[in-house]
Amino acid sequence: MVAHVTTVSFQGVDAVPVDVQVQLTGGQPMFTIVGLPDKTVGESRERIRAALHASGLALPARRITVNLAPADLPKEGSHYDLPIALGILAAIGALPGDQLGDYIALGELALDGTIAEVAGVLPAAIGANAMGRGLICPSGCGSEAAWASPEIAIVAGRSLIQLANHFKGTQVISRPEPKIRESFGTLPDLKDVKGQETAKRALEIAAAGGHNLLMVGPPGSGKSMLASRLPSILPPLSPRELLEVSMIASIAGQLADGRLSDRRPFREPHDSASMAALVGGGLKARPGEISLAHNGVLFLDELPEFNPQVLDSLRQPLESGAVVIARANHRVTYPARIQLVAAMNPCRCGMAGTPGHTCRRGRACAEDYQGRLSGPFLDRIDIRVEVGAVTASDLILPPPAEGSAEVAKRVLNARRRQEKRFSALGLDGVSTNAQVGAALLEEIAKPDQSGARLLADAAQAMRLSARGYHRVLKVARTLADLDDEDRIGRIHLAEALSYRLSGEMRSLAS
Ligand SMILES: Nc1ncnc2c1ncn2[C@@H]1O[C@H](COP(=O)(O)OP(=O)(O)O)[C@@H](O)[C@H]1O
Ligand SMILES: [Mg+2]
Repeated sequence: MVAHVTTVSFQGVDAVPVDVQVQLTGGQPMFTIVGLPDKTVGESRERIRAALHASGLALPARRITVNLAPADLPKEGSHYDLPIALGILAAIGALPGDQLGDYIALGELALDGTIAEVAGVLPAAIGANAMGRGLICPSGCGSEAAWASPEIAIVAGRSLIQLANHFKGTQVISRPEPKIRESFGTLPDLKDVKGQETAKRALEIAAAGGHNLLMVGPPGSGKSMLASRLPSILPPLSPRELLEVSMIASIAGQLADGRLSDRRPFREPHDSASMAALVGGGLKARPGEISLAHNGVLFLDELPEFNPQVLDSLRQPLESGAVVIARANHRVTYPARIQLVAAMNPCRCGMAGTPGHTCRRGRACAEDYQGRLSGPFLDRIDIRVEVGAVTASDLILPPPAEGSAEVAKRVLNARRRQEKRFSALGLDGVSTNAQVGAALLEEIAKPDQSGARLLADAAQAMRLSARGYHRVLKVARTLADLDDEDRIGRIHLAEALSYRLSGEMRSLAS
């Protein structure tokens, strides 16, 4: 007889069902697992042996064959322990096999028979719910699973024995409740930033339209300070976005205590980050920083210090909103729709362009440094702004009257206008101006007559490329949205054109 338990294999954030088949036959006692298991799955045998022993149930002294079907789908991770153990228990009659058929199971076993937390419980629960089944998972992940649906049956057990008792009906495990992480502490506020009105305005526009932003300025001018205040003016996550963000966090094993957070992600990888850390992949398929920042912000501070190859690998996901990672025999896709915010000094010594300063290495200082960034990468940044040095007279100013709360209100209003526009056009995947393609852009961002004239003149004088032209239109569309205007006027285009760099940073401005 063959016992069946269903579990899942993760392909990106999708949970693909895997049938765990357990067969006991006569002959030499043996325990084999087949069906493309990786090393962790292979080691399951030892954990299962010990866990069953600790639970007072020895591994049957027969030939045990476990097949993970479909056989050609690679199986990674430690969550196969529990379904295999449940299959063995069903095969020896210690558990009712027919009841297990209503569930999907995943979990790791400790040697003492307890069930340890695993990554990916939320996507597994969503997958189980879509199949009309319940979920058997570690007790520590129960509240995470409960988010999948209010109806889904969840058995979140602490140990194998507890699960066995539950299914025998002697001690029923109650259904866990979904939990949300309290947004602890307040976010840093824009009120702390004195002066820098242009940069603050650029930050507001970037937040309103979801635009990628580059800030260039000398050290200590407040670039990092400004970027860290972006989360305080971004609109809250929609329920759908919250679930998307949490699925990725769950796959990456980053949902502490199974609680979901309603804050927009803000990821700040160090400039020494490797390709695998930033984009994803590596030995095990894992989402990288760019996916962990999905629906939120990826902040790259000291941009030219990043490995140029690593930066260029961000180009494709910035365009498509998803990362494709090629593995030995398959590919996985993770969502990665992000807003990129970057900060950099204008040159290696940091002071190029500051009045009264000449770099020791002359122009080469700035040229070499900025040369580390490729044109196509910079092409994906809609707004570039110079952040000048703060002067002592700025710092002794009283704090600005307007803080993050007021700015966030305007941003939210502009976002609402965009959502309304895109849903009226029947565009499901688009929610901000930054995501709009060239063809649609010409339709939704038609300048009025004098605006069109200004744009034509500027395009010629500044030798705007096609990409540069569309970038200006996109930003102008957001500026009009901030003003609650349907038409794009001259004033919006003039401001949009100003978010290109000047002087020393000319090479970045094209
Ligand atoms: N505009 C400003 N208003 C108030 N404090 C500032 C401002 N700019 C810089 N500072 C102070 O200087 C410190 C360094 O700023 P930082 O954002 O790290 O500069 P950058 O990233 O441009 O090198 C901040 O922590 C803050 O205390
Ligand atoms: Mg800094």
